[in-house]
Amino acid sequence: MTIDRRDLLLGALAGSLALIRPRRALAADEVARVDALIARMTIEEKAGQMTCLADSFRPFNPPNPQVGIQDEKRLSDEVRRGRVGCLFNGIGVAGARRAQEMAVKDSRLGIPLLFAGDIIHGLKTVFPVPLAEAASFDPDLCQRTARAMAVEATAAGLHLTFAPMVDVARDQRWGRVVEGAGEDATLTGILSAARIRGFQGRDLRRDDSLLACPKHFAAYGAVAAGLEYGNVDISEETLRETHLPPFGKAFAAGALTTMAAFNEINGVPATADSELLTDILRGEMQFRGFVFSDYTADEELVAHGFAEDARDAARLAILAGVDMSMQSGLYIRYLPELVKSGAVPMGTVDVAVRRILYVKAAIGLFDNPWRSLSEEVEKTRIFTASHRALARDAATRSVVLLKNDDLLPIDPARRQKIALIGPFGEDRDNLYGPWAFYADPGKGVDIAAGLRAALPDPALLTVTPGSAIAAPIDGGIAAAVAAAQAADLVLLAIGESQAMSGEAQSRTVIEIPPAQQTLADAVVATGKPVAILLRHGRALALHGGVADAQAILATWFLGSEAGHAIADILFGKADPSAKLPVSFPWESGQEPFFYDRKSTGRPVVDDRTEYKARYATTDNSARFPFGHGLSYTDFALDQLKLSDTALRWDAAIEVTARVTNRGKRKGSEVVQLYIRDRVASRTRPIRELKRMERVTLAPGESRTVRFSLSRGDLEFVGARNQRIAEPGAFDLWVGQSSVEGLHAQFTLYAQVKAAG
Ligand code: BGC
Repeated sequence: MTIDRRDLLLGALAGSLALIRPRRALAADEVARVDALIARMTIEEKAGQMTCLADSFRPFNPPNPQVGIQDEKRLSDEVRRGRVGCLFNGIGVAGARRAQEMAVKDSRLGIPLLFAGDIIHGLKTVFPVPLAEAASFDPDLCQRTARAMAVEATAAGLHLTFAPMVDVARDQRWGRVVEGAGEDATLTGILSAARIRGFQGRDLRRDDSLLACPKHFAAYGAVAAGLEYGNVDISEETLRETHLPPFGKAFAAGALTTMAAFNEINGVPATADSELLTDILRGEMQFRGFVFSDYTADEELVAHGFAEDARDAARLAILAGVDMSMQSGLYIRYLPELVKSGAVPMGTVDVAVRRILYVKAAIGLFDNPWRSLSEEVEKTRIFTASHRALARDAATRSVVLLKNDDLLPIDPARRQKIALIGPFGEDRDNLYGPWAFYADPGKGVDIAAGLRAALPDPALLTVTPGSAIAAPIDGGIAAAVAAAQAADLVLLAIGESQAMSGEAQSRTVIEIPPAQQTLADAVVATGKPVAILLRHGRALALHGGVADAQAILATWFLGSEAGHAIADILFGKADPSAKLPVSFPWESGQEPFFYDRKSTGRPVVDDRTEYKARYATTDNSARFPFGHGLSYTDFALDQLKLSDTALRWDAAIEVTARVTNRGKRKGSEVVQLYIRDRVASRTRPIRELKRMERVTLAPGESRTVRFSLSRGDLEFVGARNQRIAEPGAFDLWVGQSSVEGLHAQFTLYAQVKAAG
């Protein structure tokens, strides 16, 4: 019996579509339409569909090197000749319609263009950077903000976002930590799946459904020493245990595209890695959509020292499994000749084109090339009051209260004089974060504006920069100290500029820039109560006056409503409820640092015993650990119970614990469940997050949280890369961070073999 490859592809694509639209998988006539098209396509037209170019019909200045075609006239020629299938990083309906008209009416086959863009945390309404929002530990919130982003992006003429970034980032020196969900694979998987559901909605054909592109496949977050575009030297175990699972969750949530990573893995660049892009991605993970290259990443195979020249690079990329080449133009340039010479089989090209056209069909582009291109909709769905309200709510849920020695919240009724000091107090250039380049710079609410709007008398606030972001300013410290002395309390807004994180922003030191550190030391030395408002796109190592301040808040890059959200938290209108998705180390030199590390043969017992696994100069704990985050109220956990301390092979146990709000304010706590596999055939982390639940309680209220655990939760990557669970003893904690909690133990028992 022969199996038709096309049936396989179709069946699986329909399967993954079925996840999103149970009753509307790709219809037979759409399949027939794609087949008929492919039968009529020249190799050049096929290569065109496999080419994605920067959108010069409605250009923006995305954070990429400006290479290749950059003008509308040349791009128009390409579209008319059917030599491009996708345009990216332009917004606006008018420009998109111009381009689509050319594709549909002037090109020989009339295949509609796909419009893509980096909608990472918002179009015009900017939501908190993904790392900040991950601090909410709240999939529902992530889904709702992604939906709002999709509504805006599709109103501006886009069909696809290159998001979410699902790379697990365990080295805070890497600038792109800001784009993901942090250091934990489980949290990243859960939040990424929620974002995909939000972007795509329930029906891909709706004009507000935005295709997701979870990226970067794979292990980009594991670049050595956090060096951008660097190498990844990684065990199969870590690759499969930490970096691939979030992609699995993303595909299960219905993502139909992904993007190959810039980096190499163990000597093979991802863009040319057929084991990765074909055997693992398609074979093992059953991915049925199409793969983008990253920006000019196919061409970069030459610089990697992996391809001889650009032609060879195109050959390697298509053979490995890259279906759509981004920006280099390599496919359109070389595929016709590569096929003619026999270096690339036409069948390989056909499979890639078919994958791309199926996705175009899945979003209804053939039936309606004008979907998501309505000028009316563009006027009404962007930067709406409801999106801004959601941005404010999301921002308040992203602020992590790291420390609070009875300083916060501030009671506005006490009419205290507040000195807002630091370069970010009145700054609007660093509110959004590094990946929100479509938003209007002037429309964000800075901290001073947010505070003034919330204070009974705006005159209670003084604003003094004290320092620039990277350099001192003349007389800055003296002015700041004077302002602090004249006030009852100080809010010190310091940290990173938005240019210090994001792509190509690896840093060797993850600290407050020296000029601001000097400012902080001087202000804290006045003895006035100080709350630090950190601005940042990664975990930071805090020192001196910053660490000593009475209160510290992680406020990241919170987006359009940053100032209002910070005021809501400071004045107690909202209770801080976020938790760190990345550990804050004591020192930069601890990186890569993450909570789910291994024990070693000489784990630290205390800070005196010698010959233990720690640095001579610092402890190997975190200053603020993963999962940490305080509230204005006081939560306590008790009554940890397991339905059974024996977990049978095919059964489940129920874990319950009671959480009580012992304080005087309403608040939310994220209850976290961690496990440790005591003994295994491959050593296991000292803790692993398995479950989390957000609970909102009134003062005095209690609630019992329930988690179910079964063997699947205990699996890990064992010998020959098989996922296995091993019988034996497990520790379990239910707590409020990754370093504490109520403790219990249970045992997984082996399957009982039936006699005979
Ligand atoms: C980034 C991708 C992004 C692409 C398009 C690249 O530099 O690595 O994440 O989607 O540019 O802007």
